[in-house]
Amino acid sequence: MARKVRTTFLYVVASVLICASLYHHHLRNAISTFSSDHLRPSPAIISASSSGNYAIHENLTDATVPPHDTTSVLLLSLSPSPPPPPPAISTTAVLLPEWEVLVIVSPETAPSNLDGNYSCLYDTNEATPAKFAGVLPFPDRATFSCLLPPRSRRKLPFKQPVLSESPPENHHPARDSPSLIRWSHMVYDSLTTEDDVVLFVKGVNARQGINREPREFRCVFGEDAINGVKTAVTSSMQEVFRCKRPPLTPSPSRPAKVSLQIVAENQVVPSVAYYTPPRTLAPSPHSSLLCATTMVYDITKFLKEWVVYHSRIGVEKFLLYDNGSDDNLDSTVADLIKLGYDVSTYFWRWPKTQEAGFSHSALYAKHSCKWMMYLDVDEFVYSPSWQNHSTPSKTLLHPFIHLTNSSRLGQISINCHEFGPSDQTVHPKMGVLQGYNCRRRFENRHKSIVLLDAIDHSLLNVIHHFYLRQGYKARKLGTNNIVVNHYKYQAWPEFKAKFRRRVSAYVLDWTEKLNPRSNDRTPGLGFAPVEPTGWAQKFCEVRDNKLRDLTLRWFGVESDSGFRMVWQR
Ligand SMILES: *[C@@H]1O[C@H](CO)[C@@H](O)[C@H](O)[C@H]1NC(C)=O
Ligand SMILES: *[C@@H]1O[C@H](CO)[C@@H](O)[C@H](O)[C@H]1NC(C)=O
Ligand SMILES: *[C@@H]1O[C@H](CO)[C@@H](O)[C@H](O)[C@H]1NC(C)=O
Ligand SMILES: *[C@@H]1O[C@H](CO)[C@@H](O)[C@H](O)[C@H]1NC(C)=O
Ligand SMILES: *[C@@H]1O[C@H](CO)[C@@H](O)[C@H](O)[C@H]1NC(C)=O
Repeated sequence: MARKVRTTFLYVVASVLICASLYHHHLRNAISTFSSDHLRPSPAIISASSSGNYAIHENLTDATVPPHDTTSVLLLSLSPSPPPPPPAISTTAVLLPEWEVLVIVSPETAPSNLDGNYSCLYDTNEATPAKFAGVLPFPDRATFSCLLPPRSRRKLPFKQPVLSESPPENHHPARDSPSLIRWSHMVYDSLTTEDDVVLFVKGVNARQGINREPREFRCVFGEDAINGVKTAVTSSMQEVFRCKRPPLTPSPSRPAKVSLQIVAENQVVPSVAYYTPPRTLAPSPHSSLLCATTMVYDITKFLKEWVVYHSRIGVEKFLLYDNGSDDNLDSTVADLIKLGYDVSTYFWRWPKTQEAGFSHSALYAKHSCKWMMYLDVDEFVYSPSWQNHSTPSKTLLHPFIHLTNSSRLGQISINCHEFGPSDQTVHPKMGVLQGYNCRRRFENRHKSIVLLDAIDHSLLNVIHHFYLRQGYKARKLGTNNIVVNHYKYQAWPEFKAKFRRRVSAYVLDWTEKLNPRSNDRTPGLGFAPVEPTGWAQKFCEVRDNKLRDLTLRWFGVESDSGFRMVWQR
């Protein structure tokens, strides 16, 4: 009898512990998410956030819930099955285009502690493999990419998966997890400066040219959307919102969440951003006169040529916003750094956020760079006046940015010549500068070099062009003075790949007919990724060998394996 009572007692204890463990698991998901579309949070969030923010999280982890190991020991001595679920990893998940789920691990779990194989488990009992997808900075958070499996796509609302170590059989499915954050409506990053906090937000100023008033918003700090500290918003333009810093000292070890409240709608935008101490691109011993920022996605094979060329004509630092590149960008960047080039990357995984990325860079690099050039990696700036130079020089671009110290020059615009495939059918071995030499007659668009101190408080930029503070002037330079060679329509395999990785915020997808008159479209191409007949000869109105001849002289070398360009392997 006594024995039976004891067994029952143990059974009850074990059940309680299992429940506590399950509850804890769900609670952690709920707490770590901050995805409440509305100010009325779920009970779990209320109970968790009534007395503070991150401290609660820590205390729950450390004290309230029995350590997992104890539970396992008890279970083992009582009932052989089912085995206990391993502790869940606290995560937040965002639904990206094409059913991609980006799972962001909470900062308490250091990325270096996640070296196993993982899966995403959904409330439909489906599981998909989780592929490591890079580390979001400030604070460091590992990310994983999963696909939303078929059954989960049919059931609204889409639920966040649980990230579990593979194989996932032993895990209970993600029953009560919060809804997936949608990439089109979220705070995706933030940047603290000396004076303010800048939030990068999708889906609030959702239409081009239409911006809501700053007074319609507040920034909210901490997990608790109701009692969290709020500050006034001073600027609302496109995806960039600036607000005053709160009277809190941002903690590097326990960063607080930050989000945007839409006051009239009593709504807080779901956020994956944190309030951190001010941060900048690591300044080198001296601040550079000229840097370059570009947004990259799977462009590694073009990078060395682009960096070497621009570095030799005076660009001192390169800042790459990496949209989840999957082609060994990091190792190529590491190689360039070893060769002495100053190249940094910033993980910027968010779709269609080129303008916001440029706004980010304008602040992030402000202490390291005086002028910033915004150029794509298929674009090369040069001046026809360099035609007879036998070698490049790091001061070649200086005349263009020093032009008019007296007239408060804030930005120069440089027109682009658009080159066609020039009869190439595959990526040219010696690089694009040697490979493409036939272009369209008329220039199109312009790229800019901007004085970072001259940029308007809103950080507003449209198509590579910033709005300037009062008193600064922009200057347009003619193509006989300085020009950008844009190797836009490359050999078909390259062109096709490039148009899959478009970066502009307002052209959703080149296969969609949403914006048929956008400048980003290719005349005559239509909407299908099928090679048009005669592609290799298209967009060829003027033979233009100027930069080809110049760079052959500057960067061509004789070597054991024959003549090659310095950037060739
Ligand atoms: C959390 O625990 C620490 C020490 O364990 C304690 O000092 C702190 O007050 C607790 N925080 C809350 C909000 O209970
Ligand atoms: C992950 O999976 C791969 C391939 O299935 C396997 O080779 C590797 O050992 C696994 N790693 C771990 C830590 O389980
Ligand atoms: C380069 O040299 C040629 C021949 O001397 C001359 O005609 C041409 O004007 C020079 N070009 C420039 C840009 O100085
Ligand atoms: C403009 O200012 C820079 C330093 O700020 C100086 O090196 C350069 O010579 C000046 N240029 C002119 C045309 O005055
Ligand atoms: C970023 O990469 C994803 C694929 O990983 C792609 O779907 C998206 O369009 C890219 N976004 C930009 C801005 O290039």
